[in-house]
Amino acid sequence: MQLQSISRSVIAGIGIVSLGIAGCTQTRDFEAGTQAQSSAQTTTAQVSPNAGTQAPTRDPDVIYVPTPEPVVNEMLQIANVQSNDIVYDLGSGDGRIVIAAAKDRGARGIGIDINPERIREANQNAQKAGVTDRVEFRQQDLFETDFSEATVVTLYLLSDLNVKLRPKLLRELKPGTRIVSHAFDMGDWKPEKVVEVAGRTVYYWVVPENPPANLL
Ligand SMILES: C[S@@+](CC[C@H](N)C(=O)[O-])C[C@H]1O[C@@H](n2cnc3c(N)ncnc32)[C@H](O)[C@@H]1O
Repeated sequence: MQLQSISRSVIAGIGIVSLGIAGCTQTRDFEAGTQAQSSAQTTTAQVSPNAGTQAPTRDPDVIYVPTPEPVVNEMLQIANVQSNDIVYDLGSGDGRIVIAAAKDRGARGIGIDINPERIREANQNAQKAGVTDRVEFRQQDLFETDFSEATVVTLYLLSDLNVKLRPKLLRELKPGTRIVSHAFDMGDWKPEKVVEVAGRTVYYWVVPENPPANLL
């Protein structure tokens, strides 16, 4: 199930409800949208592959729904990810995007997820893929994390979360950093490219030198 269809359901009148859907192990109260303090715990594939079994410090802002593999590939392709890139996936789930960036393109990858169960899975997947030397997973709140070293940022969140994150992306990322979002746009920040793949939409932006004030 796509996140878009979940959003549509909410718009259709489900209202304040925690949604549990097939394949999803997280729930999110879509209307309440918690704003509590972040966690700052870090686990890495290299050091602690089974770490991250404690409870999350707050509810995730969005449920876990994985990006299908063809869409992952397109996200890396549209951003032209190369071996000298540092790819941050904000809300990294089972780690598939940063693992693919490392395995297929030789990039370094950092996954940020608030849910320790996702971090544990991602570390296990990195081990299976043989990329623990190039990826790292951190249990953190993506709204609090320092991602300024990124050269590529990937997202599969929700439109309202993208818009909320937009000022931080534009202020903290270096000009020229590429941003790719599966399914969700950035409101008034219009993408440079939009690609359809496997029934999904992929959006692409490049951080400008001087972001317009209305986007900050
Ligand atoms: C839709 S899934 C996307 C997973 C992965 N990026 C992919 O495309 O396959 C969103 C992920 O964001 C995580 N998440 C939600 N709120 C978060 C937050 N505030 N900080 C960090 N991660 C968060 C969830 O735990 C979930 O794993």
